[in-house]
Formats: sequence, structure tokens, C-alpha cells
Amino acid sequence: MSSSRSRGRKGFSTSSFDGAERRGEERRMRMREATLQNPLDAARAYEALFVPALFGQWAPKVANAAQIQPGQRVLDVASGTGVLAREVASRLGSTGSIAGLDPSPGMLEVAKQLTPTVEWREGVAESLTFPDQSFDAGGIEGQFTYLFSDTG
Ligand SMILES: C[S@@+](CC[C@H](N)C(=O)[O-])C[C@H]1O[C@@H](n2cnc3c(N)ncnc32)[C@H](O)[C@@H]1O
Repeated sequence: MSSSRSRGRKGFSTSSFDGAERRGEERRMRMREATLQNPLDAARAYEALFVPALFGQWAPKVANAAQIQPGQRVLDVASGTGVLAREVASRLGSTGSIAGLDPSPGMLEVAKQLTPTVEWREGVAESLTFPDQSFDAGGIEGQFTYLFSDTG
């Protein structure tokens, strides 16, 4: 059959064009699923897209509010790829220290690659594994942003 409905502009049959388009869309869907299932790729996408668009702007504000001073020991809880930890690290001088805590291995791997000098630790806010009196200040930055100081 060779009707205008079954032939495309360049002589391809519409049905084979539709099949190629459907296979392309299925391949793109599989790629999207694979990307989201890979924690490292998801963390890279987070750093490339979400940090500049949403979370990066909060890092200096949170560091200002916490009145971070050179020499302090600071904990960034739920550090993600480390945008707040990087901002804090730039204010601590050579005598201060910063640790970043997050449960996501992908987030932590990107954070380590970007700033190897921070102590990155896998864990959750609900059960901190640092000894008492380890920090002078701590912060959480994310969908909800709040601060706590003299955390003990
Ligand atoms: C929206 S991101 C914010 C990351 C980073 N603070 C920023 O501003 O880019 C939220 C982060 O919280 C982490 N997270 C989720 N549950 C957590 C928990 N129970 N304790 C600590 N971090 C957690 C996630 O792995 C993720 O990296």
C-alpha cells in the first residue's frame, strides 16, 4: 500500500518511521532510568543542576548566619555534594576544620572529588558518630534550612 498516510516525505513508510521513533523514545527512557538508578550520576546531576539553580545561593547566607570564624570546628549535616562545606571551609583558615555528613555514597563521592580536604563521612543526622564536643558549630542546608551552634 502506498497512500499519503503510509509514506513519509522522503519516501519512508510512516509505520517504519513510527517504529524508529518509538524505539528511540524507549532507548531514551531506559537511559533516563539508568541515570537515576546510578547514585553517582544522580549526584553529578545534582551538583551540575540543583546546586547552581537552588541550593548554592544559601551557602553564604547560612555561613554568615552561623558567624563562622577562622579556627572553628564545623559540621555540615546532610552535606550533599558539599556546597555549604566548601563555603565554610573558605572561611576557616588553616587552623579550622570542617566535616560533611551524608547518607548518600554518590553525594559523598562527588563532594570528595570537589573538595578532598574536607572530612566526608557517611551517616545520618539521627545518629551522629562523632564524639561529644567535636564541633563549635553545625548547619543543615537543604529544603529546610536551619542552624544550631555550640553543638557540643
Ligand atoms: C536537598 S539535599 C541538600 C544537600 C546540601 N546540603 C545542599 O545544600 O546542596 C538533601 C541531602 O540530605 C541528605 N539526607 C537525607 N536523609 C538524611 C539523613 N537522615 N541524615 C542526613 N542527611 C540526609 C541527602 O542524601 C541529600 O544529600
